Amino acid sequence: MTLTAPSRPLTREPAATPTLMPAPRSLHVMTWGCQMNAYDSGRMADILRPLGYAPVATPDADLVILNTCHIRERAADKLFSELGRLRTLKEARPGGMLIAVAGCVAQAEGAEILARAPYVDLVMGSQAYHRLPVLLEAVTLGGVPVIDTDFPAEQKFEHLPSNQASQGPIAFLAIQEGCDKFCTFCVVPYTRGAEQSRPAASILAEASRLVALGAREIALLGQNVNAWHGEGPDGKSWPLARLLAALADINDLARLRYTTSHPRDMSADLIAAHRSNAKLMPFLHLPVQSGSDLILAAMNRRHNIDLFRRIVGELRDNRPDIALSSDFIVGFPGETDADFEATMKLVAETGFALAYSFKYSRRPGTPAADAPDQVPEPVKNARLHELQALLRLQQDDFNRAQIGQQFDVLFTGPGRHPGQFAGRSPYLQPVIVDATHLTTGQIAPVRITAANPNSLMASLTDVNTELSREHQAA
Ligand code: 5AD
Ligand code: SF4
Repeated sequence: MTLTAPSRPLTREPAATPTLMPAPRSLHVMTWGCQMNAYDSGRMADILRPLGYAPVATPDADLVILNTCHIRERAADKLFSELGRLRTLKEARPGGMLIAVAGCVAQAEGAEILARAPYVDLVMGSQAYHRLPVLLEAVTLGGVPVIDTDFPAEQKFEHLPSNQASQGPIAFLAIQEGCDKFCTFCVVPYTRGAEQSRPAASILAEASRLVALGAREIALLGQNVNAWHGEGPDGKSWPLARLLAALADINDLARLRYTTSHPRDMSADLIAAHRSNAKLMPFLHLPVQSGSDLILAAMNRRHNIDLFRRIVGELRDNRPDIALSSDFIVGFPGETDADFEATMKLVAETGFALAYSFKYSRRPGTPAADAPDQVPEPVKNARLHELQALLRLQQDDFNRAQIGQQFDVLFTGPGRHPGQFAGRSPYLQPVIVDATHLTTGQIAPVRITAANPNSLMASLTDVNTELSREHQAA
């Protein structure tokens, strides 16, 4: 398999815009992978709503979309086993079913999917979603499967509809897509294509719409979000810090985040924004992958550990309460015991509130997949185990350190048990209080009373008298 944008062996381009009548139809979207995929699934539902498609919770639906992830192994296995289940459902369903495969596996494997699962009706890459109506029309009129995995010249962002349904108090907003970094382990530059930055005016309009629909917190999304450099309303190229400042001017928006960042793009003005922008939450996801300079070079990360340390130091100088999360890969080709120890040392000295760690997974078509010095599976397992034990300890320590602390919680809705309300801390931890008089979207100060492995218990402090930093900022 090659990871270039595939040609379209079965593509039929309809000549005209769609003429489907909006008869009521059911849509089920299954999503794997990153927040960008979750965001894309939401946009696909928005695009299909005017065609009469309403989301349903089960795959017994007129249209089922599988939005796939290709970042690590077994993505294709997962897809084909899910497709096998859907095939049985499709054959038994009196009204029939259209099956579409979207996302990064679709982008990378294109025709292979139709060869192995000919009952699939549509395969579309991550740049094709705005063409969903015409692609579906091509499927229904043409009666043959359609593949669209092109990277079009036009920007996907310009063709996506705005958010039509409320995402609730915490909303996601894609501002950047694709990656030009080409880390040697990663498929993203191949499946998501070159970096694209959405223009600031369109982001600001979208953010205002989300806030009007009830969002109080917005997380800006991008594979390389801090490489964003979109056109500003003044026609000049804006850096992310400037965009964050403009977003902070939206009155009812209380909290801002951005994810996922690359250390190389943590510019001085962005680091300073963590001091000057009061709405920017004190929590940053900054993947470092390894603590060894040799491995970072082999990964083509284009930075060393010294730079990472300096960035962390500057972030903490600017925002002493900032907490960090990160991504790690163990068992990258050529990783020795000494390289792995360097990763453990970096984790120990940095201290992470949260982290995601993975065994290196060979992705065909990426440079590291062909490296001769692959690390044996048992070694990878042992290293992952050791690293995760340390990261787990750090996460527990971080959560426990919150006991007795006071901060604002953005409440997102009733908790799992009657009489409880749940929300998110500035560090994104789920926080649960015993209260019923709160409303979704309310921000109120709490004191943390207990820490569970994945959530915090809290009691409300006086909502009326304690004006917090966020309230003053909003
Ligand atoms: N193997 C293991 N982990 C990977 N990631 C990306 N590609 C691979 C791979 N081939 C991890 C990186 C990245 C996160 C999203 O997934 O840590 O930051
Ligand atoms: Fe993949 Fe590296 Fe780009 Fe992140 S920066 S998406 S790890 S190539």
